[in-house]
Amino acid sequence: MKDQCLIVYYSRSGNTNKIAEIIHKKVDGDILRIEPIKPYPENYNSVVEQAKKEINSGYIPELQLYIDDIGSYNKIFVGSPNWWNTLAPPVKSFLLQYDLSNKIVIPFCTHGGGGQGKVFSDIAKECKDSTIKQGFAIYGDGGSKAEKLITDWLIKLG
Ligand SMILES: Cc1cc2nc3c(=O)[nH]c(=O)nc-3n(C[C@H](O)[C@H](O)[C@H](O)COP(=O)(O)O)c2cc1C
Repeated sequence: MKDQCLIVYYSRSGNTNKIAEIIHKKVDGDILRIEPIKPYPENYNSVVEQAKKEINSGYIPELQLYIDDIGSYNKIFVGSPNWWNTLAPPVKSFLLQYDLSNKIVIPFCTHGGGGQGKVFSDIAKECKDSTIKQGFAIYGDGGSKAEKLITDWLIKLG
């Protein structure tokens, strides 16, 4: 297995995307944005309602994502917005679709004030045979403080 890093994330409105790009600048590796085949509605209230139904029913959206050789990565940063206190369904789809056993999984999330909620513990539930590292949670896109906070977190992770 190559000692290679993958940053994989879902972002609907750009916050998690911004954090993923900062991580990418600081660690050597590949970056991939998860997209569901059927995009979520633009309207905020509609997506909030749809997400609630999907999470409650355990719906797993189909993804436009193909990773040729997941086996070549040994460290995977997994990013999600906090949706209803858990991970967004497209991130759950990714975790169910790809086998991350024996890999290092490093979760990160953005939120609207509720913190990480159960995002990290729910990611860990889907990655039972992975080593889960300390996650990083930030409000919105973190503004100008994001870069420094991410650097400090990455240093702590080693
Ligand atoms: C469907 C939905 C549910 C959300 N639920 C929560 C929540 O439970 N707690 C919270 O702090 N923020 C919640 N938010 C806010 C998002 O976590 C926050 O805006 C996040 O940064 C969005 O990331 P993105 O721009 O990468 O999509 C929710 C947003 C959406 C669209």
